[in-house]
Amino acid sequence: LGHIPSSGLYHGAMGDTLASICNKFSGDVAASPGAVRLENIVLRWCAQLIGYDTNKSAGVHLSGASVATITVLTCAREHLYSRMEEAIDRTRDIVVYYTELTHHCVTKALFICGMSRIQHRMIAVDERYRMRSDSLTTAIEEDSKAGRIPWLVVATAGSTSTGSVDPIDDIATIVQRHNLWLHVDAAYGGFFTLTDHGRTIMKVTYVIVIRAAPSR
Ligand SMILES: Cc1ncc(COP(=O)(O)O)c(C=O)c1O
Repeated sequence: LGHIPSSGLYHGAMGDTLASICNKFSGDVAASPGAVRLENIVLRWCAQLIGYDTNKSAGVHLSGASVATITVLTCAREHLYSRMEEAIDRTRDIVVYYTELTHHCVTKALFICGMSRIQHRMIAVDERYRMRSDSLTTAIEEDSKAGRIPWLVVATAGSTSTGSVDPIDDIATIVQRHNLWLHVDAAYGGFFTLTDHGRTIMKVTYVIVIRAAPSR
């Protein structure tokens, strides 16, 4: 069955088999120049598929979406602390925005990276289960007025239960206007971009971090 945790394709199975047989340590060029080069090439392909400028983008392969989320949200936390040191002592004022469709690995990652006590805002979804950008704007503006620290928006490109894709471009514009961090969980839907229709709904002109799982 082509269930999501692993590739149901012949090529994917062959790749998994080869990796298991060789069992190469691929974290260091000196130990394994071939494997590191292979990883970099595959990452560049992924960046090209998403539409990133390959000279300005970088990435890393991780064991799964949950581990990737912990990594990314820790980066987002450090970015916040580096630009606003007072936030370190105001954890309860920091705000994260997501929807009921957001994968639970996000709240788990917030817990692991020490951000579970921040304010969590559940943004309303429309009739197709997509984050409503007007509700997002209202929530951010209310929090700013109340002196809180809007920090992170988690959008989903392919929710696990419905496959819905949040309006990423609209959300990116809002995030840019308010100087927040946008994280797109594209574990399931990142590679919708392989199809013409997918490219239209995944149209992204400004996103810093996108997390996609090729096995899906
Ligand atoms: C949208 C989305 N995000 C995150 C995850 C978590 O992925 P993993 O099981 O690789 O940690 C999944 C898994 O189904 C998912 O569909």
